[in-house]
Amino acid sequence: KRLVVLVSGSGTNLQALLDAVATQGTAVYGAEIVAVGADRDDIVGLDRAERAGLPTFVRRVKDFGTREEWDAALAAATAAYEPDLVVSAGFMKIVGKEFLARFGGRFVNTHPALLPSFPGAHGVRDALAYGARVTGCTVHFVDDGVDTGPIIAQGVVEVRDEDDESALHERIKEVERRLLVDVVGRLARNGYRIEGRKVVIP
Ligand code: GRF
Repeated sequence: KRLVVLVSGSGTNLQALLDAVATQGTAVYGAEIVAVGADRDDIVGLDRAERAGLPTFVRRVKDFGTREEWDAALAAATAAYEPDLVVSAGFMKIVGKEFLARFGGRFVNTHPALLPSFPGAHGVRDALAYGARVTGCTVHFVDDGVDTGPIIAQGVVEVRDEDDESALHERIKEVERRLLVDVVGRLARNGYRIEGRKVVIP
């Protein structure tokens, strides 16, 4: 299966996917990364892609007249690589109608909280501020809401008394990388059905 991965930052989740493909091989893992896209340049995530010899593309919101034009451009750039699955791995933009029309049902996101708790851009900070004693990460399909799509898998992380946002986020990311690699591989190898809110991986 062909994957396009979208990133906005350090790209450690992307790196975990790259490492899984490199160590297991495409045939065993079930998927290959064919391109990496971003909404900004100068990010470590793009360096990781380039080091792996992958094509990259950048579509920045500010280079387009409207959000819709940006969304259509992102969708077109992604579609050019003919992906079977698109993975948002720390991609910090909400995509629009055009992107979802093309990739809905095969667009996977990873979020650093146990959805439906603490959606949005500050899932780690919000869980900590709320006083949650466990949090974690959620890999889910993207729908037209913010972190509201069907859940595929979750991982749990305990909050420690001494945690600040960055310490907690680092521990979540360790679990998140393993979970994302596992889920993407299973989706690619086994196929899947989305039945309402339930994702069935045979
Ligand atoms: C992940 O925790 C992701 O869920 C969140 O941002 C982080 C991205 O990390 N939204 P990285 O860029 O993969 O290192």
